[in-house]
Amino acid sequence: MEASEARKTLFSGIQPSGSITLGNYIGALRNFVLLSEQYDCLFCVVDLHALTVRQDPAALRRNTLSLAALYIAAGLDPEKNLIYCQSHVPEHAELAWILNCFTYMGELSRMTQFKDKSARHQDNINAGLFTYPSLMAADILLYQTHLVPVGADQKQHLELTRDIATRMNGLYPGLFVVPEPYIPKTSARIMSLSEPTRKMSKSDAEDSYIAVLDPPDVIRRKFRRAVTDSETEIRFDPENKPGVSNLLSILAALDAITPEEEAAKLQGLQYGALKEAASEAVIAALSPIQERYQALMGDKQYIQDILKANAERAHYLAQKTLRKVYKKLGLYQL
Ligand code: TYM
Repeated sequence: MEASEARKTLFSGIQPSGSITLGNYIGALRNFVLLSEQYDCLFCVVDLHALTVRQDPAALRRNTLSLAALYIAAGLDPEKNLIYCQSHVPEHAELAWILNCFTYMGELSRMTQFKDKSARHQDNINAGLFTYPSLMAADILLYQTHLVPVGADQKQHLELTRDIATRMNGLYPGLFVVPEPYIPKTSARIMSLSEPTRKMSKSDAEDSYIAVLDPPDVIRRKFRRAVTDSETEIRFDPENKPGVSNLLSILAALDAITPEEEAAKLQGLQYGALKEAASEAVIAALSPIQERYQALMGDKQYIQDILKANAERAHYLAQKTLRKVYKKLGLYQL
């Protein structure tokens, strides 16, 4: 991260809970890389958020290191971007407490992710799952962030973050920068391959998502099995043709054109050709990342050193905001 006054700050994070999916890549990680040259960036492995559902401790440790390696393998230069782990910077949890005191129960209970997750984990509707968005707001506001690249499913959390920041700025002028979301126009919501009306998610059955680390034969097999429809026309129509439209969105994101243009290119061809085009585009995008990832995972010490050095730098920045917040709120300063 360069110490330039003119550059704005970008923050984003991914949970280290299981395999990182093609949805995470297209909706978020790829945009991190595209935007990283223009901003001072922090990319966080949000392990505290992952605890809102039960995690196997050994798997969580493995996934944390793996996600840090994946950030780098995807093209984020760890010398220029702060790549670090949320639990290594205690100010995230400290600011989250403060924000909890300025966030209403009504706001939190309206969050669709809370409603979805509590329906899926009925035996463990914990308070962390409920206050998850205030920890996310703390992640962002802690660094006086201007831009937050996320997929469409995080839009509501970003709006809440902005509401909290605006509310607190009203009470304590100049406290926080109010962040802007960056949500790609198309492909912000990659759908499940087996149930294309649902979001592709790492917590669903394996055949429903492509993992960023899936080998080429697995990627081809999953696309071949992807649900389409009983028609034959390749047309972008998410409402009536969710499966076909999802494949077009994936392809379009990777070719940097619109799904409609992608459909025009494939006019007259069969669904098999669309599936093959999508798998080859995905393999071409992921293969170099997988190669770099394997090399990085061969040197775990290198990744640990990066996490350590960058957490110290993030801690320094976080301290500045937290001190300001404590002071403005009237917490007694020694
Ligand atoms: P998480 O870990 O669920 O997902 C990480 C990022 O991937 C995006 N994403 C998708 N985009 C398109 N299609 C999909 N199917 C898809 N699935 C996931 C998500 O929108 C997200 O951008 N709460 C966040 C993590 C977080 C965070 C933050 C993000 C914690 N603190 C602060 C930004 C800023 C989450 O659970 O993401």
